[in-house]
Amino acid sequence: MPVLAEVQHPLAGATSNSTPTSTSTPTSTSTRAMPDTLRLQVRAIRLLAERIHAFELHSPDSEALPPAAAGAHVDVHLPGGLVRPYSLAGNPRDRTHWTLGVLRETAGRGGSRAMHEQLRVGDVITVSAPRNAFALAPAAPHSLLLAGGIGITPLKAMAHELAAQGADFDLHYSARTPRHAAFVEELRRIVPPGRLHLHFDQGQPGRGLDIAALLSGPGLAAAGTHVYYCGPAGFMQACASASRHWAPAQVHCEHFTAPAPRPAALPEGSFEVLLSRQGLRLQVPPEQTIVRAIELAGLRVPTSCLSGLCGACKTGYLEGAVDHQDYILSDEEKQHCLTVCVSRCRSPLLVLDL
Ligand code: FES
Repeated sequence: MPVLAEVQHPLAGATSNSTPTSTSTPTSTSTRAMPDTLRLQVRAIRLLAERIHAFELHSPDSEALPPAAAGAHVDVHLPGGLVRPYSLAGNPRDRTHWTLGVLRETAGRGGSRAMHEQLRVGDVITVSAPRNAFALAPAAPHSLLLAGGIGITPLKAMAHELAAQGADFDLHYSARTPRHAAFVEELRRIVPPGRLHLHFDQGQPGRGLDIAALLSGPGLAAAGTHVYYCGPAGFMQACASASRHWAPAQVHCEHFTAPAPRPAALPEGSFEVLLSRQGLRLQVPPEQTIVRAIELAGLRVPTSCLSGLCGACKTGYLEGAVDHQDYILSDEEKQHCLTVCVSRCRSPLLVLDL
């Protein structure tokens, strides 16, 4: 099955003030165009916390990895055909290897189980180029990083970057108990003294970080603080409602799973998709996604989460009243891009730049 088109990486349009450079001495400092996928070797697997392992990936040829700004994630192609996005948790300026922190989800869709049960040190796997829909804002006077559970992974990369810049930031990390908290010793070394705040709620959210109290006052928002949060659903909801009065440009988040059922796509009826470069017209019935309609036509768009969370299927469009259903595109991007795994079209015709 041919790959229809190379997707535009969100990284290209992301705002980032970081210019990752190698902190060690890779054997090659490649200036080639970033490939869509890489073949990387598992160089180490480490137990970090209860049900959480770190997976370190490097180039089998010891080449420098592509630049990956803080907040970026990659798609990991797993045995059995699963593809799952994972945030990069390491130092963005160290291009010798990437570190993924993966929580083994017993009730998940199988990706984290495959990572834990099937990946072994020395295995060579396919990994996408980094994408970033959760980038640091440039030159914020203060950054507030809020991590819940395994949501620490992108925020740890941000802590590395902010510390390297000498920027002013605080990191609040909430977990059930110290046994459930990953990367703590490393965070103590990265985060300036007094700026790492650990919160252990023993499984009772009311005993942990009071997110509403932290975010609800006018001070932080008015001072230009940017807040970044990532964690499980309840944590995300608490952060979203506590930051509702903040300027949207100062609030940044990344979801691991779709936060809540969306209202039904508008309208429920079918629509037509024109693949402009192929000259191909497809009907998309109400129960079918655009990406599935494209697959049924014998073509393929790269995908990963299939939930509007990762950006793997981000595609340009030329015409159509798009009903965006994703969680990652900026208002500016929505003017010309959509995620074909979840988005619909309100008008009879959607013209894709494919
Ligand atoms: S596949 Fe992840 S946003 Fe579409």
